[in-house]
Amino acid sequence: MSPIKRVIINKETNINPIWIMRQAGRYLPEFREIRKKNTNFINLCLNSKLSCEITLQPLKRFDLDAAIIFSDILMVPYGLNQKVEFKKNFGPQLGDLNLDKISRLDEIDFVKKIYPVYKAINLVSNNNIVKNKSTIGFVGAPWTLLVYMINKQSPKLKLKNNFFNDNYLINRLLIILDKFLKLHIKNQIDNGAELIQIFDSWAGLLNKKDLPNYAYIPTLNLVEYVKSLGVPVICFPRGIKDYKEYCEIIKPDAICIDYEVNPAQILNDIKIPIQGGLDPKVLLSDKENLKKEAKKYLDIFKDHPYIFNLGHGVLPETDPNMMDYLVKMVKDY
Ligand code: CP3
Repeated sequence: MSPIKRVIINKETNINPIWIMRQAGRYLPEFREIRKKNTNFINLCLNSKLSCEITLQPLKRFDLDAAIIFSDILMVPYGLNQKVEFKKNFGPQLGDLNLDKISRLDEIDFVKKIYPVYKAINLVSNNNIVKNKSTIGFVGAPWTLLVYMINKQSPKLKLKNNFFNDNYLINRLLIILDKFLKLHIKNQIDNGAELIQIFDSWAGLLNKKDLPNYAYIPTLNLVEYVKSLGVPVICFPRGIKDYKEYCEIIKPDAICIDYEVNPAQILNDIKIPIQGGLDPKVLLSDKENLKKEAKKYLDIFKDHPYIFNLGHGVLPETDPNMMDYLVKMVKDY
């Protein structure tokens, strides 16, 4: 069994597996080289061979324990025929939302549109480099996808005042997303993903009273579905205030924490395997500080099943040598 699964399933505490969110990405010169020639990000995600190559890039440099497939949570709205573009220095820009068109979409058309993502997972999971490593598939949580689909761009700090106005639209979209996210999960697993991570990047925008309807219930449906397929599921509800309540309700197999929560408090509150936490900005400082900060997480979670990761994606300005140092340090701990 791969080290990450040993932590999640067997609850082992004496191994320190590590993978990093956005481990394949702009901080690597070999990624920038490919990206320079492929200016359309969606098309790059739809190029199975390149997407596989990019996924494996960090594994050739560092002794990481997982391959996280190079794709994006917004491939699902794209598959649902909403226009999705990534603009330089702006981020994702989505097109108009046509509920009628989306409601009529059938599963075959969806899969046809994004099947190269599944093919990329297949290529990755059959590569020798990932032997004894976990291939991680992922989805955006329904709430976070709803935010992008309705807001049409990153919400930054808050939602528009009229975000919840169209109750009909929101509830229809949640039903549609549930169906297609399950299909997306199933296809990733069938093609070799042996773990699923659910990213709820905008969970922190929800008020306490809205958590059940928009975060808890829709995510719980997905978590139970992944479990029914016999695959472990990690949830990352970034910025959520109450990780304890989230875990008690949703019961993921592991919980990924962001860098704003106090890890000692988390250790106290949460009994399931824990992942992540370190502030990605620490990688922009010096080795001494990086060692000190990473050691803090390793010390706190010494006797708890723990998977090392950051509390959000690695920043593009990170020096790959710092990543190298971090991975070696975690492995030698
Ligand atoms: O972790 C990984 O390496 C796996 C691949 C992955 C990407 N995006 C690749 C990517 C994963 C898991 C995601 C998830 C994702 N995408 C999230 C959830 C996690 C988070 O960051 O909160 C969100 C919110 C998105 C939507 C998205 N995609 C945003 C906001 C951006 C940033 C736009 C920008 O200009 O930085 C992206 C682009 C993106 N997704 C990049 C990568 C490697 C950068 C693309 C580039 O090369 O320009």
